[in-house]
Amino acid sequence: MDQNTWTSVDSYISDLLIPTDPVLEETLKSSAEAGLPPHNVAPNQGKMLELFARLQGARRVLEIGTLGGYSTIWLARGMQPGGKLITIEFNPKHAEVALKNFDRAALTSVIDLRVGKALDILPQVASENQGPFDLVFIDADKHNNTEYFEWALKLARKGTLIVVDNVVRNGAVLDSTSTDPSVMGVRRFNQVLAAERRVSATQIQTVGCKGYDGFAMAVVLS
Ligand code: SAH
Ligand code: DHB
Ligand code: MG
Repeated sequence: MDQNTWTSVDSYISDLLIPTDPVLEETLKSSAEAGLPPHNVAPNQGKMLELFARLQGARRVLEIGTLGGYSTIWLARGMQPGGKLITIEFNPKHAEVALKNFDRAALTSVIDLRVGKALDILPQVASENQGPFDLVFIDADKHNNTEYFEWALKLARKGTLIVVDNVVRNGAVLDSTSTDPSVMGVRRFNQVLAAERRVSATQIQTVGCKGYDGFAMAVVLS
């Protein structure tokens, strides 16, 4: 099995289950044209995020790491009517692209995009009493995964689902000698996740058009 097979099977899955959607296609196109890195989740992964929002009956969703808003739109579409989503993005250029995509998706009134470092914005979100969130998606700088997870717990309720992207990184997560800040960040987060008694957690490896990676999922128990 190789990347070509994974990509072809992803296309097969998406053709089967994910109807062509001009808004999502334009979101990817405008992101690429603006030079944003192709770090959006895959279409079938976006659909999974939508399903998670539905499973949660989500009315309050928090996302850390917006990019061009591709995952944000999937999450927002899975929310209950009247739901609100806060998404945090550090890079103003990414935020500008995302805002246009939210407008095109007719989600401007649903999505509250906060521009800044997540570690600066999260205390504001907490002090505004925006929580508790039903679903938190962590997908920003991996180096700070642990801090984002701790904020997610502070902003959670019993039953909140916390999803973390990119926890496998082509298997690099196994390398305890890695000096890559992202790998070190994921490994540090994994230790904290394993020790955290307030959640029940697992991780699932994935292959597909985005390569070989994985998601962590944690449900808050109390
Ligand atoms: N969730 C998106 C992809 C996010 S890529 C999707 O699947 O479509 C990661 C994003 O996190 C990038 O846009 C990057 O600029 C942003 N980011 C990096 N460091 C950050 C920080 N400290 N605070 C907030 N966002 C950050
Ligand atoms: C990277 C970040 C992501 O969130 C992702 O899904 C894939 C790659 C990166 O920084 O390389
Ligand atoms: Mg990611």
